[in-house]
Amino acid sequence: MENIEKCELWQGDCLELMKDIPSGSVDLVLTDPPYGMGFQSHRRKEVYAKIKNDTSLEWLDGYFAECNRILKDDTAIYCFCSWHNVDIFKKAFEKYFKLKNIIVWVKNNHGSGDLKASYAPKHEFILYGNKGRRTFYGKRMEDVIFANKTKNENHPTEKPIDLLEQFINNSTEKKSVVFDGFMGSGSTGVACVNTNRRFIGIELDEGYFNIAKQRIDEAIKGGANG
Ligand SMILES: C[S@@+](CC[C@H](N)C(=O)[O-])C[C@H]1O[C@@H](n2cnc3c(N)ncnc32)[C@H](O)[C@@H]1O
Repeated sequence: MENIEKCELWQGDCLELMKDIPSGSVDLVLTDPPYGMGFQSHRRKEVYAKIKNDTSLEWLDGYFAECNRILKDDTAIYCFCSWHNVDIFKKAFEKYFKLKNIIVWVKNNHGSGDLKASYAPKHEFILYGNKGRRTFYGKRMEDVIFANKTKNENHPTEKPIDLLEQFINNSTEKKSVVFDGFMGSGSTGVACVNTNRRFIGIELDEGYFNIAKQRIDEAIKGGANG
């Protein structure tokens, strides 16, 4: 376990390591699990390996159960997912949380897909729900949000820091504890540093874990990731 100021970063399997997080100790889950699509970036095949645990979603139910256990009452959870498996994500999510919205993140440019027989994909979903009822700290937003994609320089499915910051600001106060069990290159952690929240992040892959540690460290020192 790495302790960087207000951030605790653990390398390993979140399903195992979450057992060490006390019940009712977390203020927000903001998480981006594998989508269960066997995703591999075509642009960066040489650089990035397949994402671990991305071929089945059998772990999803257990993950949401643990998220529910570690969250305090009257808190929020945001979980990225894609339309491909939204039915599976929604079913598992609703076992443990009150689903309040499926937020649509509209990207500034589209991906590829079947170039001749499918519409060009330009959005991802975010399941937003509550344990109890979490009213917003910020202004009420609409459920369609426009945010630029990242250049995926740190991770093949890297999420935009500014989008993550909006969720954090809307659903927590400063110094709150935010959890992401699938932190990848640590984007949620960087967003927490930028918004003065505490962060607990877990990543299975050693390479991505080291990138996350470095990015979060740089953000703390006022580096380039803000
Ligand atoms: C969709 S990516 C997260 C990307 C991240 N949001 C970012 O901006 O970099 C999911 C991550 O979960 C990791 N992962 C897969 N199974 C895991 C597990 N059981 N415990 C912890 N991390 C896991 C993968 O290695 C991958 O980096």
